[in-house]
Formats: sequence, structure tokens, C-alpha cells
Amino acid sequence: MKLIAGNWKMNLTPEEGLAFLSALGNVSRQDVTVALFPSFVSLAPLREAAGARNIRLGAQDVFWKPSGAFTGSVSAPMLAAVGVEYCIVGHSETRGRFGKLEIEASQLPYFSETNETCRLKMEALLANGITPILCVGETLAERESGATEATIAKQLKEGLAGIDTSKVVVAYEPVWAIGTGNTCASDEAGRVCRFIRSEVPQVKAVLYGGSVKASNAAELFAQDGIDGGLVGGASLVPDEFARIIESA
Ligand code: 13P
Repeated sequence: MKLIAGNWKMNLTPEEGLAFLSALGNVSRQDVTVALFPSFVSLAPLREAAGARNIRLGAQDVFWKPSGAFTGSVSAPMLAAVGVEYCIVGHSETRGRFGKLEIEASQLPYFSETNETCRLKMEALLANGITPILCVGETLAERESGATEATIAKQLKEGLAGIDTSKVVVAYEPVWAIGTGNTCASDEAGRVCRFIRSEVPQVKAVLYGGSVKASNAAELFAQDGIDGGLVGGASLVPDEFARIIESA
């Protein structure tokens, strides 16, 4: 079973999201699970239309406490209450590695996720029946200094400490390939995904993310070790996203 996840990031209002679903049409397939990750405000409005198309709903982030004085935050029980089945954790953008904005993690008090906050979020999600998608990946500097495996191994070891990994999806998202058009070569993406699988053999799936498009999806998904994709920009274009699902 392949998993194709569309991370809309901070794009599309609820109305635009509904128009996207209408344009997408019927992409439901027996052997592919499709999930969309709209902004928090679109989750409830899209629930019915997504369900009717057999598309699962995912959230882009979560706070680890169930309730309380945490202004601006959304908890796992709140996500479960609107039908969320997946949640992204530790995306490079929420880890505070906004490459394009060049913001230091220390300047991002709300979004500077660490391996420890990822772990807390995954505990909260699993307690509420939501599947976490833990993002890992190296920056360009880490890759160039030969630290790709060490970086990812640390993110997995610390992030997944004490977590039932059989209930977790891991996404390999090389930071240098996100939103840049620079896809990781498919054989290299496959190699790193197999490395992830060797570090955490029980995980449900290992996805690749970073400039996945209709034109490169089939080659990526054919790689041994890649169980699907976490798609950003191309998941905002109905035709493009439909073709990516077909490639799976
Ligand atoms: P792009 O597909 O736009 O590179 O984004 C990838 C991503 O960050 C998905 O979470």
C-alpha cells in the first residue's frame, strides 16, 4: 500500500480547498492511500468532501498538551474530533529551518520544534489514534559535510525514543530539496529511505518529500524503500496531484 500525502502548507482557504477537491475528481484507488493536509481552519469544512472521495485528512502540526492556556495551539483531541487521521511532525519549516527566510531557530519561539517536542507531539497523537508523519532530513551544509546519515539517525533516535514506531510514518525530506525544484536523485532518495528503514525497521511507511512532481513521481515511487510521497507545491494543482497519485 502506497501513501500519497499532499501538504498544502499555508495555502488555500476552505472555499478554495473545496474547489480543489471538485477539480481533483475521483482519485480513489485500492492500493493507494491519499491524504491531504490543509490548514487548521480548512479541516472541518473539508471533512465531508474529502471523505466522499476516500481522501484522508491530515494536520500540519499539533501541540502536545490536550488543553490549557496555550494561545494559538491546537491539540490532538481537537484534531481527532474533526476527523484527522494523520499529522505532520517535525517538518523542516516547523523545526525552524526556514531556509528561504533565513530565520535562526532561536528566533522562532512558536515553531522551533526539537526532537524532544516532536516526541511529545507523537505521544499525544498516538494517544488519540492519529498517525504521525515524522519528517527527517539534512540541510545542504550537513549533506556536503558528509553528515546526512548522522543527522537523520539522531532525529530518529531522539524523536522516536519510547514511541511505538509500528504506528509511525517517517518522511525523508532533504531540506535542500524542499520548494526548490531540486529533487533528490531517485536512487539517492531510495538509498536514504532504505537507511531510515534500517534504523527503524518497524515503521509503517517511509515517504520521500522534496520537489515531487508528476514528471518525477513514477521514478521515485519505483525505488525500493520508498513507500510513497509527501508532496508540497504539486499537491496544490489538481491535475498534477492526480497524476502523482496515478504514478504510485
Ligand atoms: P515541495 O514539494 O513543494 O518541495 O514541498 C515538499 C514538502 O515540504 C512537503 O512537506
